[in-house]
Amino acid sequence: MTARKASAPSGEGEAGIHGQALSKSYGSARRAVHAVRDVSLKVRSSEFLAIIGPSGCGKTTLLRMVAGLETPTSGTISCWGRSPAELAREHRIGMVFQDPALLPWASLRRNVEFVYRAAGRRPDHERVHEALDLVGLTSLAHLRPHEASGGMRQRTALARALVMEPSLLLLDEPFGALDAITRRRLNGELERVWTAVRPTTVLITHSVEEAVMLADRVVVMSDRPATILREVTVPLARPRPTVLDETFRDTVRECMEALDA
Ligand SMILES: Nc1ncnc2c1ncn2[C@@H]1O[C@H](COP(=O)(O)OP(=O)(O)O)[C@@H](O)[C@H]1O
Ligand SMILES: [Mg+2]
Repeated sequence: MTARKASAPSGEGEAGIHGQALSKSYGSARRAVHAVRDVSLKVRSSEFLAIIGPSGCGKTTLLRMVAGLETPTSGTISCWGRSPAELAREHRIGMVFQDPALLPWASLRRNVEFVYRAAGRRPDHERVHEALDLVGLTSLAHLRPHEASGGMRQRTALARALVMEPSLLLLDEPFGALDAITRRRLNGELERVWTAVRPTTVLITHSVEEAVMLADRVVVMSDRPATILREVTVPLARPRPTVLDETFRDTVRECMEALDA
């Protein structure tokens, strides 16, 4: 398997993602919902950042601003010195959501290929093969989504997000709908895939364990409107130890204390 390391867009150095004083409100002034307030964060090139916070606090909104899908009400955001929208237009952002939203009539392989068609490009069959191989789907890629398990569907979504070798990988509770055993297994898979490719990654999750298992750094957000309560650097080598490791437990505890504060 020839996993290719992700590279930052050329000539942009190590700056990565830089959000400054980001705020987002929905609706008109009188009835406004303040989803995100004054969030500044940086993600270095090839860093894995996890964001945890209570449900409804504004995590998806923050991620959508990073993806260029939502315009901040105030504040600025740059991806290697450019706007998220520019990066998105060049198909340099890969995203995975809780719902994989696969085309039901197409095989898993076709679903990955479809990224190219949607971008108006000719499918790179070698890359499609590599991406499917990376997520362990080579022998099952002929199945259609309804014939595949939930875990396989999320692997397909991950392959689809990675196939065009994105500079930025955005994961919004990608395993949130899976059972605990599948979820744990896919965490291990994601760690392996990420280590092979090393795209700059932002993961949103409800699970503190998942965040600590996968990320270099964990950002703990408050209730809505989302502000940053604490940033915890994960002091664990890769591959990561088991959940029984003492440093792992200590780091999880530190994040939980920040959440509960
Ligand atoms: N498009 C929208 N229009 C209006 N309100 C929204 C929209 N998207 C999200 N919200 C509101 O913003 C708040 C934060 O939502 P969201 O970012 O989805 O939170 P999280 O991902 O942390 O659960 C919620 O109160 C939600 O109802
Ligand atoms: Mg959300």
